[in-house]
Amino acid sequence: MRVQVVIIGAGPSGLLLAHLLRRSGVETAVLERRQRGHVLARIRAGVLEWGTVETLREAGLGARMEREGHVHEGTYFSARNRGFRIPLAVLAGRPVMVYGQTEVTKDLYVAHDDAGTLIVDGAEGVTIHEAGGAAPFVTYVKDGVGRRIDADFVVGCDGFHGVSRRTIPATVLKEYERVYPFGWLGVLSESKPVSGELIYAQHERGFALCSMRNEGLSRYYVQVPAGEEPEAWPDARFWSELRRRIPAEAAEALETGRVIEKSVAPLRSYVAEPMRWGRLFLVGDAAHIVPPTGAKGLNLAVSDVRYLHEALAAFYRDRDETGIEGYSARALARIWKAVRFSWSLTTMLHRFPEQTAFDLRMQEAELDWLEGSEAAQRALAENYVGLPY
Ligand code: APR
Ligand code: PHB
Repeated sequence: MRVQVVIIGAGPSGLLLAHLLRRSGVETAVLERRQRGHVLARIRAGVLEWGTVETLREAGLGARMEREGHVHEGTYFSARNRGFRIPLAVLAGRPVMVYGQTEVTKDLYVAHDDAGTLIVDGAEGVTIHEAGGAAPFVTYVKDGVGRRIDADFVVGCDGFHGVSRRTIPATVLKEYERVYPFGWLGVLSESKPVSGELIYAQHERGFALCSMRNEGLSRYYVQVPAGEEPEAWPDARFWSELRRRIPAEAAEALETGRVIEKSVAPLRSYVAEPMRWGRLFLVGDAAHIVPPTGAKGLNLAVSDVRYLHEALAAFYRDRDETGIEGYSARALARIWKAVRFSWSLTTMLHRFPEQTAFDLRMQEAELDWLEGSEAAQRALAENYVGLPY
């Protein structure tokens, strides 16, 4: 079989790229290792930059997001159990949208089902061949039968643990990494969110975040040591720890409800360069990971997809290769700024194991400055709502 572009991975990156390419008349096949049910059970962050919102709208994917998403014009930060609000929309000219990544993925699957996109799930042993040459192809096994797809281009949308990045020779690929010595314990709870807007809380016991999915579904996190098991956190322990770290009035108002998901996510910043090798491109988590502080993961995947879609559409429309040549540098320029932002928020808000009294004072001074300075708030807001494409 032959298609123009073969995409590996049916997470948000692969699904959105296939959707945009189909609308530009480019033929794709998507190969996914897991079953759809597994992909849709993953719970990830829930804040969309306004550029992401517009990208989804322009792609005809905005209908349910408009109905069920929540526009947030501000967000709270807190230190020592006292909160203050940053008016994002006033300072940065745009709000953000709270709409879960799982919902974005569902909407993408619905659009693909309607259009009849070829999405192969349960594709095992996906292997990329000849990506450095002119005629790449991909092999995989489905239901015990070996298969091959030839293509003009291969796109790795297969996340951090995928095969695509590992296909690029070690002599070409340069990796940058910071692993943080803590994780986030996340709880999804059937309860009314404690606040109409998110609360990012710095506290001497560790960071906490109050987020939400909808009126009846809250998402909360507390910083825990790296490697902590969720089993060490019975519900009562979680709620009591969360209450100690958030602003006093929020702690009083906090409603607890049935916990429907509880998991620990490690925190890491990672970038691989370049994001193109010959006829292979990397997109989203396959090339970079950010800590969840600031919710940039999905938003970065969307900006990569925008750039690559533009590049491939121009190639098929005009045989213009400038977009393809420039994809990696263009994507990385935006990625590094988001990596910097999420690293700086992480550093400002978390307790680090080796932190000295001096380091703590630095964090407190930074938050104090943020509270009192419109310039500081504007800088944060500009990054939080998303830098331009
Ligand atoms: N073959 C086929 N598919 C694979 C392989 C493989 N060898 N390895 C991984 N995959 C699939 C995974 O099962 C997953 O469905 O690739 C997909 C990658 O999806 P994500 O990890 O969600 O990555 P991405 O689509 O880039 O999404 C970026 O979404 O998942 C979040 O944290 C992520 O917020 C970030 C954003
Ligand atoms: C979430 O709702 O899961 C969420 C929100 C904001 C973040 C991270 C995660 O910065």
